[in-house]
Amino acid sequence: MAKVAMKVNGKQMSGDVEDRTLLVDFIRDTLALTGTHIGCDTSQCGACTIQLNGRAVKSCTMLAAQAEGADIMTIEGLAQGDKLHPVQQAFTECHALQCGFCTPGMIMASVGLLKDTPKPTDEEIYHGLEGNLCRCTGYINIVKAVKRASQLMAG
Ligand code: FES
Ligand code: FES
Repeated sequence: MAKVAMKVNGKQMSGDVEDRTLLVDFIRDTLALTGTHIGCDTSQCGACTIQLNGRAVKSCTMLAAQAEGADIMTIEGLAQGDKLHPVQQAFTECHALQCGFCTPGMIMASVGLLKDTPKPTDEEIYHGLEGNLCRCTGYINIVKAVKRASQLMAG
């Protein structure tokens, strides 16, 4: 066991991990931030997507120890009090979720996409979210939501 420390949603957090502990397991099991989901064991689904040092990352693809000193944001860190993040707001407005299992990962990936491409085309959204799977196949409204978020973020 070794101690890892990182900033998570603006707060310094730490915990003991084994060398083989995945970052997603550390986030869910040690930090109890269960909004980050696990949908596969093959790095395919994107349900575990978080922001790590400002980039969207699948948190099942790295070890907790590799995140030592990192600045992490999970879905729980997006809203400001009662005020939803524009991407959360847009997903709500556009009914971009059905069961909601993929939604935290979709939102975190969308935040990353909009950071790099503030006004994405449909093609850029397909490409930007191609690492995230929705088993309810609600992709049309997800694309609408990313466009709506782009509008909201542009003010
Ligand atoms: S749980 Fe990480 S990609 Fe599926
Ligand atoms: S809303 Fe059900 S998996 Fe995407």
